[in-house]
Amino acid sequence: MSSEDLRFDGKVAFVTGAARGQGRTHAVAFAERGADVVICDRCEDQAGVGYPLATDEDLAETVRQVEALGRRVISEKIDTRDRAGLEALVARAEKEFGSVDIAVANAGVSGMAPITDAPQAVWDDVVGSNLHGVFNTLAAVSPGMAKRGYGRIVTVSSMMGRSSSPGQAAYAASKWGVIGMTKSVSQDLAAVGVTVNAVAPGNIDTPMVKNQRLYDVVCPDIENPTWDDVAPRLQQLHAQPIAILDPFEVTRAVMFLADEGSAHMTGIVIPVDAGAAARTSA
Ligand SMILES: NC(=O)c1ccc[n+]([C@@H]2O[C@H](COP(=O)([O-])OP(=O)(O)OC[C@H]3O[C@@H](n4cnc5c(N)ncnc54)[C@H](O)[C@@H]3O)[C@@H](O)[C@H]2O)c1
Repeated sequence: MSSEDLRFDGKVAFVTGAARGQGRTHAVAFAERGADVVICDRCEDQAGVGYPLATDEDLAETVRQVEALGRRVISEKIDTRDRAGLEALVARAEKEFGSVDIAVANAGVSGMAPITDAPQAVWDDVVGSNLHGVFNTLAAVSPGMAKRGYGRIVTVSSMMGRSSSPGQAAYAASKWGVIGMTKSVSQDLAAVGVTVNAVAPGNIDTPMVKNQRLYDVVCPDIENPTWDDVAPRLQQLHAQPIAILDPFEVTRAVMFLADEGSAHMTGIVIPVDAGAAARTSA
């Protein structure tokens, strides 16, 4: 079965960090395949993150794209570090749409710093969004899913969740942590019809990668580096000869895990990383 055959009619899909990037691609893909959608994003920059995060306009654009498909959408500006805010959003979605059947804990940030020069803000912001935020999302959606006896939860780790790279102490710690959390929560929910799985993307074509801060970190030896300078170095992280992947490649794996038919796959990690995991993982 290809992703084009998957349908989510009658389902409600919640995607965090959906104002742009992979989160928007996931939200629109679920809507295209019949789901109503619940989205949130913090839509504000963070001190420890060296590139701009999404804006209010980005979040409004995701709403526009979902509505253009004729699906219903609930959208709120929420930081996933705010557990009470997420719980209130889930409660609203359950009241207005009847349930939350699918949750994609996608919101995350990248922050790079060598340990010899590591601002506290980088650790706090990266672990705050990538680890606390994912925990809060799982804690917000799980009680309702358990009660209804149905749920598909997908977390977003990274190829850095099973490997490492210089300057990535906070990011790698957070993404390794997401995998541990995913596997543990899959056990909590194993008996109640809720699956919990992770995707682990490689380099994906979003503003998290395509920004000047990352270019400067990856190419410290080049003045004003451009994508053309960065691409060959990022490609080294992949095994296949490609530097960056389209976000929809991750969406296909997310939808596969979110499908009703994936009922007996839980606690697993699907890499979408051009072969990177072949070097690091069983
Ligand atoms: N792009 C990559 O190469 C790559 C690789 C592996 C994993 N990932 C992961 O994929 C996920 C999506 O990233 P992306 O590539 O789409 O990047 P992105 O920066 O385009 O999108 C991330 C979105 O999350 C939002 N966000 C960040 N922290 C938030 C918070 N605390 N609360 C609410 N919203 C928040 C941002 O505003 C942004 O809209 C992240 O978890 C990221 O770590 C990305």
